[in-house]
Amino acid sequence: MKLTILGGGGFRVPLVYGALLGDHAEGRVSRVALYDTDADRLAAVARVLAEQARGVHDAPAVVPTGDLDEALRGADFVFSAIRVGGLAGRAADERVALDEGVLGQETVGAGGIAFGLRTVPVAVGLARRIARLAPQAWVINFTNPAGLVTEAMSRHLGDRVIGICDSPVGLGRRIARVLGADPGRAWIDYVGLNHLGWVRGLRVDGRDELPRLLADPALLGSFEEGRLFGADWLRSLGAIPNEYLHYYYFNREAVRAYQEAGQTRGAFLRDQQEGFYARMKDPAAPALLTWDRTRAEREATYMAENRDVAGAGEREESDLESGGYEQVALALMRALARDERASLILDVRNRGTLPVLDGDAVIEVPCLVDANGAHPVAVDPLPYHAVGLVTAVKAVERAVLEAADTGSRSAAVRAFALHPLVDSVSVARRLVDGYTRVHPGLAYLDRP
Ligand code: G6P
Ligand code: MN
Repeated sequence: MKLTILGGGGFRVPLVYGALLGDHAEGRVSRVALYDTDADRLAAVARVLAEQARGVHDAPAVVPTGDLDEALRGADFVFSAIRVGGLAGRAADERVALDEGVLGQETVGAGGIAFGLRTVPVAVGLARRIARLAPQAWVINFTNPAGLVTEAMSRHLGDRVIGICDSPVGLGRRIARVLGADPGRAWIDYVGLNHLGWVRGLRVDGRDELPRLLADPALLGSFEEGRLFGADWLRSLGAIPNEYLHYYYFNREAVRAYQEAGQTRGAFLRDQQEGFYARMKDPAAPALLTWDRTRAEREATYMAENRDVAGAGEREESDLESGGYEQVALALMRALARDERASLILDVRNRGTLPVLDGDAVIEVPCLVDANGAHPVAVDPLPYHAVGLVTAVKAVERAVLEAADTGSRSAAVRAFALHPLVDSVSVARRLVDGYTRVHPGLAYLDRP
């Protein structure tokens, strides 16, 4: 099996390769093409992978390349993990939004829209190329904002593109753990959009254990989302939201904390990763060790401002080791390639799963996966408060897709203005002006 990674010089590629190294079964990935537009980043990551592969007799061969067509030809799987505009772009997305007093997170609010507007045209170009050169390949999209980007790609790849995110898996695992349930056997009733979903139940042997969690403040205080949202709010909601909903439910506090922070998340990661890639130019630097230290620091500081706002304290040891991101990807590939039926929470087209959205809308939902693809399972309807957010944000995503498709500036303004976390059409207009000023990649928004 050949796996092609688009964004092969990306910082999280060693996580994926590490998971592949642990797979020795028949039909595993034996070749990895790493494609990136930046040769230095590619060389740095290739060094880390080479150290990871030491002593593993059947390690997948790694071929770094700057030639997209060569990378795609013969691919069975394509991972798309690109970052248009790099982390400097992410930092700019945050800054422009915060200066307008709104959230600039890379997937939520104004920042997510700006990132989407920059990323969708590139992702669509890649999808078209994949459809031509590797029409049989399964495409796994990690690129954020993952739901929106997956939907953009699905217009060219249909159900061959599947989006993934590790947040729901991490949430399900944490809830199962505090309830003393085996995460592998529990059924997590989760649904929404990417970074906008809720756990409404956790069934073990046919019994819903979530009410027991919601009734117990001590249990609620013993895991990340419980501390982030607080026992009272979770009880009142009757569900456990994805951690990214903290940006909605505590928006004012989150915006203030990010404005007051010395550095935004994007600026912190930009500097941190510049340091890593610069270090990798020294042939004497230990690649894997340097990478792992950088990764650990990134994990430890994840959503730090949100945790500060909530007084949630440090992250837990078990949340710091990875295992979400790459394990979902590996489980998905195994299920598709070997017909090993698995149930995974994925970003796929709705079909009829959530009746408030049309069939082509990409949603995040538990799916049964086999060699024929990812099949969303039937779920209970969303409560009205969730319907409100999900449909509002889907309308925003559709406006982003329209703007990316047509270059329409008014569609871009509409995308910002309709977002529940942007509080004025005037702000939306200034955001479009601000973003087009700082991002050359938005020059295509040149139509009224
Ligand atoms: C979570 C999210 C991902 C995100 C990652 C890293 O796992 O689900 O979408 O890419 O965190 O976030 P960071 O702020 O470190 O880039
Ligand atoms: Mn995610």
